[in-house]
Amino acid sequence: MALLIAVAACSAVSTGAPVVTPAMSHASGASADKLTAGRRVFVSRCIECHTLPAINEHTPAAWPHIIARMSPRADLTAAERDALLSYILAARQP
Ligand code: HEC
Repeated sequence: MALLIAVAACSAVSTGAPVVTPAMSHASGASADKLTAGRRVFVSRCIECHTLPAINEHTPAAWPHIIARMSPRADLTAAERDALLSYILAARQP
């Protein structure tokens, strides 16, 4: 069972959370370190209750509200929440 969860989480990571690139950092104006921290929060903390959310299934306008609603559930600090939002908006495909 633990193995199944690990495999599922792994495949979700490779498909659902693009790795941070210099272009992503440049386009978003956020540092690569901050985006990488946000990605780490996303793939480790947002899979506790459901599968990794699909970034493109929600608009840039909707994401801040979703993150405001989910951050207390995932027990995120203000810095984690801020990095997560930056990552999601930077990783979202137009
Ligand atoms: C403690 C459990 C829990 C954690 C942790 C959690 N979620 Fe959720 N999430 C839920 C539940 C329950 C729902 C469905 C009901 C709802 O929308 O409130 C949901 C729904 C969602 C949806 C669909 C919302 C919609 O409007 O369709 C998204 C996107 C989402 N979560 C993103 C996240 C992100 C990003 C994180 C990490 C910060 C996260 N969740 C962490 C419990 C959780």
